[in-house]
Amino acid sequence: MADNETRDIFIVGLRNAHAMESQALSIMKPQLSRIENYPEVAEMLQRHITETEGQIRRIEESLTGLNEDHSRLKVMALSLTGSMAALGHTVAGDEILKNSFANFAFENFEISA
Ligand SMILES: [Fe+2]
Repeated sequence: MADNETRDIFIVGLRNAHAMESQALSIMKPQLSRIENYPEVAEMLQRHITETEGQIRRIEESLTGLNEDHSRLKVMALSLTGSMAALGHTVAGDEILKNSFANFAFENFEISA
């Protein structure tokens, strides 16, 4: 594989990871704003939001270091679907559980990616 092909694959991977982490924020922030009765969950979620913001910054630094930018289109599209996913659980009586299940699955998706 040519060096430029390897680089292109790496850049796409960084852009996908950046969009995925942005999607995670679009899921977690509305969840956090709705938590009323579970302060420990809220604290953990806030901690993970801060960690995710740091991951986004590091990915942006990696892209900048390669004279590349993140994909605004991917960020916008995935953030929209993330917000819709978070909204989907608000009508459930067990919203806190559904969010926990979804967040666990999404985190494993992030780890895999
Ligand atoms: Fe995460």
